[in-house]
Amino acid sequence: MPFDTYSALSRPLAASGPVRVPIVKRDRRGITRVWRFGVGYMELAVSEAADFGRIGPDALQPEFVARPAISVIGLGYVGAVSMACLSHLGFEMVGVDVDPTKVEAIQAGKSPIVERDLERLLGQGRRNHLISATTNLPAAVLTTEVTFISVGTPTAEDGSADLTYVRQAARAIGRAIAMKVGFHVVVLRCSVPPGTTLEVVAPEIEAASGKRLGEGFGLCFNPEFLREGVAVADFFEPPKTVVGANDPKSEAIVSEIYGAIDDNIIFTSIAAAEMVKYVDNVWHATKVTFANEIGRLCKSLGIDSHEVMNIFVRDTKLNLSPYYLKPGFAYGGSCLPKEVRAVAHLAAEREVEVPLIASLARSNREQVREAHRRIRALSPERVGFLGLTFKPGTDDIRESPTLELMAMLEADGIALEAYDPNLRPGPNLDSQIAYVRHAAPHLERLMARAGEFMTDDLEALVQSCDCLVVSHATDAFRKAVAGRPAGVHVLDLARLYDVPPEDAHYDGIAW
Ligand SMILES: NC(=O)c1ccc[n+]([C@@H]2O[C@H](COP(=O)([O-])OP(=O)(O)OC[C@H]3O[C@@H](n4cnc5c(N)ncnc54)[C@H](O)[C@@H]3O)[C@@H](O)[C@H]2O)c1
Repeated sequence: MPFDTYSALSRPLAASGPVRVPIVKRDRRGITRVWRFGVGYMELAVSEAADFGRIGPDALQPEFVARPAISVIGLGYVGAVSMACLSHLGFEMVGVDVDPTKVEAIQAGKSPIVERDLERLLGQGRRNHLISATTNLPAAVLTTEVTFISVGTPTAEDGSADLTYVRQAARAIGRAIAMKVGFHVVVLRCSVPPGTTLEVVAPEIEAASGKRLGEGFGLCFNPEFLREGVAVADFFEPPKTVVGANDPKSEAIVSEIYGAIDDNIIFTSIAAAEMVKYVDNVWHATKVTFANEIGRLCKSLGIDSHEVMNIFVRDTKLNLSPYYLKPGFAYGGSCLPKEVRAVAHLAAEREVEVPLIASLARSNREQVREAHRRIRALSPERVGFLGLTFKPGTDDIRESPTLELMAMLEADGIALEAYDPNLRPGPNLDSQIAYVRHAAPHLERLMARAGEFMTDDLEALVQSCDCLVVSHATDAFRKAVAGRPAGVHVLDLARLYDVPPEDAHYDGIAW
């Protein structure tokens, strides 16, 4: 046995239902300790909780499993599914809600919501004595080692997330933690604005418990990505599992809980985990809205939108892929700006409202303006541009957002210099410049001076400017930036490094 001491079996092995034994380990000084944390449970070496009753005691090989008992605060869509699915994995679950009807439903093994397979698993959990529910939050916290918070976060009148229920739950958990001897892990599962876990939940628990985060209790943010209607199936095959934590102990405990269903858990900071949940849902809403705008436009043109979108989604290289999804600089070039304008115009002609598509150019301009604001804030005398074309590997400067940025700075009277490995003086560059002067009259002044600010000496540019603007993530530019004189600012529009350097003179505009 891996433990010094352990309590006796609470019921005979032959009994139907799981046999669970609280294990209390004592060290030589008589202090109550447990394996990993809190209280563990002795379980029988069978995989499915549902199988316990069908196996005779002789076939059973007892083994110890460190499984925390988990309390769940809020028994709505998220909480009820957690209760059912985690009990199916063998965890003892204690549900809490202020609404007694939900508590009664769970106690009766009934689902408080409509959700496929939920009632079956809740009933199974009740029969296996792994599920109970109460309105007594302190009791639930005191008899468990981990507490999930899944109370509602509705929209407040001003559009912000109403954190009233989160605060109430955190305070109540804190009061219970005040009475606890061991370490307690609190896991926030609600969708909340970034910062809520550490700036709202942690202080509430600290104030109510009198204990410090990381000492008396740990905190994680574990967003919930399950789709209503198929939430149970999604739980066992999650799209991803994300755990945001700032202490290894809490992180290990939560990853232990999800280890059975996901061997590829994504660990990150608490703030990033909070943000991911919002980003996911905004992205999903963007997809729906985009598809519907395309649908309305297609209908006005007599084209079957499903035929179009079925082809669209088959492109997993550019359309449904990480491509184009990394924050950086504005889009540009000979296709995207032109075609976005054409589609917006087509819709206007047909009197089809497409506000999402129509707003793309405005948002894109905002990216250029943001770069302009950041450079101006540095009050540079001479700005050097590393890369002029809208992306590396081309000599196409049509609708390059970098030219727009340069024109803004030039209008401010700031001296400019520019280097691009694909733009060498000669007839090709001359014809490109002529095209831009013709197609973009507002760039006329800038392009007339192209011969003055273009250089083919990258090293000299880096030495002569007090601010560098990087548009292409290339090795040559990484090297140039690394070798710049001390104190030279860099505005990196292309994210040269996966992990940007910790440098007060180095910044991006969208990361
Ligand atoms: N519904 C979803 O599919 C889904 C998916 C991902 C994330 N979320 C997020 O998860 C959170 C919960 O969502 P939901 O849909 O389950 O909400 P819900 O409204 O269905 O359930 C919340 C429950 O919390 C209870 N509650 C409120 N305050 C309480 C307190 N102090 N103590 C105990 N119980 C309390 C309520 O009575 C209610 O039963 C929200 O932040 C939501 O945005 C929901």
